[in-house]
Order: sequence, then structure tokens, then C-alpha cells
Amino acid sequence: MNSTMPSVIIARNAADAAEKSARIAAEALTAGEVLGLATGATMLPLYHELARLMAGIHLPHNGVVGIALDEYVGIAPETPQSFAHYVKKHVMEPLGLTPERIVIPDAMAPDRAAAAQRHENAIRNAGGIGLQLLGIGANGHIAFNEPGASFDTRTRDVELAMETRAAQAPQFGNIARTPLRGITAGIGTILLAQRLLLLATGPAKASALAAALEGDISPACPASALRLHPAATIICDPAAAARLTETSRPDRKA
Ligand code: GLP
Repeated sequence: MNSTMPSVIIARNAADAAEKSARIAAEALTAGEVLGLATGATMLPLYHELARLMAGIHLPHNGVVGIALDEYVGIAPETPQSFAHYVKKHVMEPLGLTPERIVIPDAMAPDRAAAAQRHENAIRNAGGIGLQLLGIGANGHIAFNEPGASFDTRTRDVELAMETRAAQAPQFGNIARTPLRGITAGIGTILLAQRLLLLATGPAKASALAAALEGDISPACPASALRLHPAATIICDPAAAARLTETSRPDRKA
């Protein structure tokens, strides 16, 4: 694949970044596209705004609407820290969707390789992902594709980086209780979506965003894979954009 620069939009602030992202997601849903769902704190204002924009709008089909990127291994869907719970609370219920319209990797399955394959099949059976929403980890991860993951990876069982576990530990009480593994869509899986939309807000994401856009296109920074996708957009706030140079800052171009 040839490399190409994602469109970079620097919003006025985090709320504005979430609103701009939500509008794109609402248009995709209204057009009948399948939405790829990221989790994390960054996405919460996006989903809040998405529910507001979609109120009273009937989706044009009865099939799968949203497919989650990842899930912690060993965390049951009913558990508040699970991504299944997150998606139910912030996407499924606010959009008035029934459970069969949302797909989440089954990370409680005894055979995780089979569960990962079922997830890939579910994406294919849904007709592929139209718009894939993405967050970014402070170490440059996308979904649970940690640094080192190759760009042709598909959905699979992975070990979480210590940095990722440390970032999530407050939700689980302490690092010892934080899951060690996850099932995640691969970078190759993500790159198959028609369009990618990465939302990054806050100073903790500034280094990762600069590495993704201006460093080498390399598994060392999983988010740099967005530069291999022909239709990737990054929406960020000024804090997350703070380390971008002229190369990727649209507001600094002549
Ligand atoms: C987790 C998720 C990612 C998400 C990241 C950032 O690791 N697997 O998909 O992008 O967290 O989360 P936050 O938005 O809370 O910083």
C-alpha cells in the first residue's frame, strides 16, 4: 500500500472534536453503514453527541449496526469494566438498539482463537465496516494492537502492554486485577474498513499522535498504519495536536 497523509482536523477543544466526530458517525449510520466501535474515555462525548444526533432517526436496515474493536479476556460482559458493558451503556441503549445489532469479541470463550475467527466472520457477514472509529493509546496503540503488532494482523488474542494495563488499572482497582490479555481486531482488520476516524484529545495523546503522523510508518507505532489507509481522518483538540509540526498541522500550512 502507498502511504498517504490522513486528513487532520484540529478542533477548538475536546468537546468540539467529539461533536465533529459524532456528526461524521451519525451520517454513516444514517446512510446504513456499519460503525466500528472504539471504547475508552475519549469516545464518551462522541457517543453522547451521537445519541443526541440520532434521536428519532430510523436506521435504514435491520442488520448489524456496530462492531466493537476489542474486549478484555476474562472480564464478563455484565462487569462494569468490560467493553461489552461500555458499548451497551453508551451506544446500544442510547441508540435504542437490540443486542443482536451489536457485535463484541467473545473474550470469555474457552477457545479464543475460534472466538477471534467468529469476530472476523461477523465483520464480513455484516458487509464490512463502513466507518471505523478509533482512539489511540499513549503508546500509539489502536484497539489492543500494541507496539510491535504487524500491519497484517487479524482479530486475535493478544497480551496487553504494561503501559496499557497501567492506564486502565484505576478502573480495576489496581494493576494486579487489571486484565493481562484482550481479543482485538488486528491492524489488518482495521485497515479493511472503508473509512477510519481517529479521535485524540488531551495532552497524554500528543506524543503518540506526533509519532503516528510524523514518525516512521512502522509497527513500533501501530497508529502510523493509518497512513496506509486511503481514507483516514484524525480529529484532535489543540492539546493532542501540541507536538505536531508543519508537516501534519493543517492550521500551520502556508
Ligand atoms: C483502550 C482501548 C483503545 C482505546 C484506548 C484509549 O486501550 N482498547 O481502543 O483507544 O484505550 O483509551 P482512552 O480514550 O480512555 O484514553
